[in-house]
Amino acid sequence: MGFPMQRMRRLRRTEGLRALVRETTLDPQHLIAPLFVKEGISHPVPLEGLAGQQQHTLGSLVAECGRLAELGVAGVILFGIPGRKDDAGSPAWDPEGVVQQALRQVRTEVGDRLVLAADLCLCEYTAHGHCGVLRGTAVDNDATLEAYGRIAVSYAEAGADLVAPSGMMDGQVGAVRRALDERGYQETAILAYAAKFASNLYAPFRHAAESMPRFGDRRGYQLDPANVEEALREVRLDVEEGADIVLVKPALPYLDVLARVKAAFGLPTAAYHVSGEYAMLKAAAARGWLDEERVMMEMLLAIRRAGADLILTYFAGAAAARLQRG
Ligand code: PBG
Ligand code: ZN
Repeated sequence: MGFPMQRMRRLRRTEGLRALVRETTLDPQHLIAPLFVKEGISHPVPLEGLAGQQQHTLGSLVAECGRLAELGVAGVILFGIPGRKDDAGSPAWDPEGVVQQALRQVRTEVGDRLVLAADLCLCEYTAHGHCGVLRGTAVDNDATLEAYGRIAVSYAEAGADLVAPSGMMDGQVGAVRRALDERGYQETAILAYAAKFASNLYAPFRHAAESMPRFGDRRGYQLDPANVEEALREVRLDVEEGADIVLVKPALPYLDVLARVKAAFGLPTAAYHVSGEYAMLKAAAARGWLDEERVMMEMLLAIRRAGADLILTYFAGAAAARLQRG
């Protein structure tokens, strides 16, 4: 039974009809805002490649979290820029480190109105900018796992709801789970960057987080953009090691991966709409080539439709404000 008995346009005629048959929703509770907090600055530093975002002071971070909570955003994920770096990345597990302090201060401000996640990696903390400890010029996987365990415990101690290992070391989720459990943090959940690709779309982030590798690149540990079957194996391993939420990153160019991950595992699934994706829209909108708000909402809805339960995006505040306006 085809046309003219079937007419798809009947249900597109008014907004009421369209709303009635809409399959995907986008709400502030689906959104997590990535935020940068830098040690030792007295004013927030605006970020050129991430228009509208900044490196926060502890004070401006707390204020921003209060604002995001008011907007109904689900949570934030914190990235720290320490005052000092070393070869081991040891400022990352300092109980008085910038993220640890931020977690405590934000918690005091917002209580449970925001889910507090902390990105768990070494690249912001190592002098060489790689995501782990080096042996020669390669990242030593197993030595790095020990450091990740220490960082996880210090984040849990500081009150993180979610720790988010993002370094793509083998066994990182299991190592973090064991470290947390040994120290009594069975309740701290793991948001695992399970399928993180070696993407060129991270460039604005690396400026923001001051985490550009001093030599080489991350292709020795992050996924090859060509591979989806391998991505599914990565996710399976993280699930077996105890991931509570699995994440695919970047988002829009990898919606096929996202859809397959959601279908294969049925786990709470996150997508990271990364800095380069944000920057592309911001740049086009600044030139008047795209309508920023409309394209933003369309992109986030598409990520939801492909299978994301939650989206990490620099648009979290703007999208929540847009949704609140109705
Ligand atoms: C590093 C990390 C990266 C991002 C989050 N954590 C990128 C990298 O590999 O350097 C990228 C996020 C973005 O581009 O918005 N562990
Ligand atoms: Zn890293």
